[in-house]
Amino acid sequence: GTIDTTPVYIGAGQFAAWKHTQLILDVVEGRGGMFSLDNGTGRRFLVRSRAYDEGEIAMLHRADRLRAMQAAHDRDADGFWLAEARRLDWSVFPTRADESSFDKRDFGIRWFADGELNVSVNCLDRHLEARGDQPAIVFEGDEPGEGRSLTYRALHREVCRFANVLKANGIAKGDRVALYMPMVPEAAIAMLACARIGAVHSVVFGGFSPESLADRIIDCGATFVVTADEGTRGGKRIPLKANVDCALERASGVRSVIVMRRTGGPVSMREGRDIWWEEACAAAPDDCAPEAMHAEDPLFILYTSGSTGKPKGVLHTTGGYLLWSTLTYDLLFGPEHGRDVSDDLFWCTADIGWITGHSYVVYGPLSNGARTVMFDGVPNYPDPGRLWETSARLGVTIFYTAPTAIRALMREGDRWVTPHDLSSIRLLGTVGEPINPEAWDWYHERIGRGECPIVDTWWQTETGGALIAPVPGATATKPGSATFPLPGVSPELVDGEGQALAGAAEGNLVLTRSWPGQMRTVFGDHERFFQTYFSTFPGTYFTGDGARRDADGYFWITGRVDDVINVSGHRMGTAEVESALDMHKLVSEAAVVGMPHDVKGQGIYAFVMLNAGEEGSEALRKELRSLVRKEIGPIATPDVIQFVPGLPKTRSGKIMRRILRKLAEGQADQIGDISTLADPMVVQQLREGMSEPS
Ligand code: WTA
Repeated sequence: GTIDTTPVYIGAGQFAAWKHTQLILDVVEGRGGMFSLDNGTGRRFLVRSRAYDEGEIAMLHRADRLRAMQAAHDRDADGFWLAEARRLDWSVFPTRADESSFDKRDFGIRWFADGELNVSVNCLDRHLEARGDQPAIVFEGDEPGEGRSLTYRALHREVCRFANVLKANGIAKGDRVALYMPMVPEAAIAMLACARIGAVHSVVFGGFSPESLADRIIDCGATFVVTADEGTRGGKRIPLKANVDCALERASGVRSVIVMRRTGGPVSMREGRDIWWEEACAAAPDDCAPEAMHAEDPLFILYTSGSTGKPKGVLHTTGGYLLWSTLTYDLLFGPEHGRDVSDDLFWCTADIGWITGHSYVVYGPLSNGARTVMFDGVPNYPDPGRLWETSARLGVTIFYTAPTAIRALMREGDRWVTPHDLSSIRLLGTVGEPINPEAWDWYHERIGRGECPIVDTWWQTETGGALIAPVPGATATKPGSATFPLPGVSPELVDGEGQALAGAAEGNLVLTRSWPGQMRTVFGDHERFFQTYFSTFPGTYFTGDGARRDADGYFWITGRVDDVINVSGHRMGTAEVESALDMHKLVSEAAVVGMPHDVKGQGIYAFVMLNAGEEGSEALRKELRSLVRKEIGPIATPDVIQFVPGLPKTRSGKIMRRILRKLAEGQADQIGDISTLADPMVVQQLREGMSEPS
């Protein structure tokens, strides 16, 4: 555009507001003279270099710092990681960093193995002196304004108390504790209390059914369950304690259940097994010496869906996971130069039942001494303005959510946004699925005033924290691209045979070397860990995602290439939904695939074959839907159920999902070769049946 040639001197604050990534790059590249700056409004300015004060220079140096980090890693990877490990407080500082191997012969993931530390010390104790009276958790309940905040000191005290309660109930280092909780501070307290005494927590999303809860408790061998009387979501109550009671009929290894009062709703307490949180904590001492943990001691298990079988217990350990959540929080959401991390109010809307809630509601922010919001409600209650009303009221500065939420709220229209003053927000983030350009634009314009950078973070339960994401102020973004790997992260694209693809290309996304936040095993099944992630493309970790790299080297995640569906940013295994449907006595066989969905990203499309002589009906569809809800939870409810006379199978009996996917995507004309089918007629029948489903 036109250049205003009058030199202007800008102040640090103004510069910060202008930290458009392109601007930074322009300046860094042309250092040492007069620069033309674009402040995002299209007007260009000419600026003298000496107009920058120290703070401004430091901002420019973010890009340099990022480059320096990568260079340091390339020079001496272990030296780099040990230097980064200084971000944490260790009781014994490690002398070794990466001792991982993706090779079958000496397979294993190990980081900082001779170091010792405690996660709760890093998230709490080390902040007490400087930030004891600063809010750590800002709680916002289901009803607007229902909330409170806990300082680091208060959180420390509550964590110690609860750790003592766990101990008093016989929980020791290595024992598994299941959490089935609302999004309340007590959930974070319970997680940190486990970490303090070395117990391994396994958080189960409160939206999962008693069946799913029981499966997870049994698989990880939990002996202790933490829950609440009821949860509240969007004005509705969720019978958490009753669900636990139901789950424990099958999961009989649980000795105690501790129940916090959230709603005061009625629950039945079993004598000798069930304890009230408040009473137990009131009697507990408020100091508790932290357990010294080896870096490779387990921190938590979190279940996630894969291509086959039941959900896997993803195991993360102490040192590597904490470093990764700490480092990535700082790189992506850390304070601007000259500011303190507590100047920000960080809101990640994820539930702690998912990895995003672990890494960016609890561990990453608290380890950095940040102020983190815990929200126990939903985006559309009491109305679709809730997230914006709450952001404005609390003064949120960094907002991190999933594209599905953005799409859902965008549909409701701008009138839910405009009444709220969102000027406190300086940075936006997304996670969980690719973001479409329309949603990106809306988020950028309506929520970010066209000014805030959007940090699109690609990662997985397995990766512990973000791996591919722009560093604000240092990386020029492109809408829809997660941009570049963070320092020390080595993604590669490979073709179907595992051949690395160079330059601009599209293929399977793998990582060629370990990073500290990598999962260590599938709990109880190390062989499955190897098989699932390291056998497809030997010598690499296979993510299950496809990706494209453009001519500028930017990564664009295209979505799962395996049998995992991403429904509203939640992972769902097709096999899980199928086995739930198969349980119905009239169902002979079911096949489930993803289908495009405007808001959810992907919906669930089920092809259901009934026993000979049975007829599909609307009533049966209803029954099947509620069966899936009961077996897994509402998030797994099929959007479409089509009753079919047969499924497309190869002669060896394998279902050809490729065909079903095309049908579900409404691309019946692109099915391609069906000559390998045992009965090619099936496809015709499926096509004809498509008009009828609902
Ligand atoms: C998808 C959530 C595109 C991807 C942290 C991945 C994404 C799966 C992005 C992991 C993103 C996550 N862009 N796709 N920014 N972030 N995904 O384990 O398919 O619940 O494999 O972890 O979500 O989901 P998970």
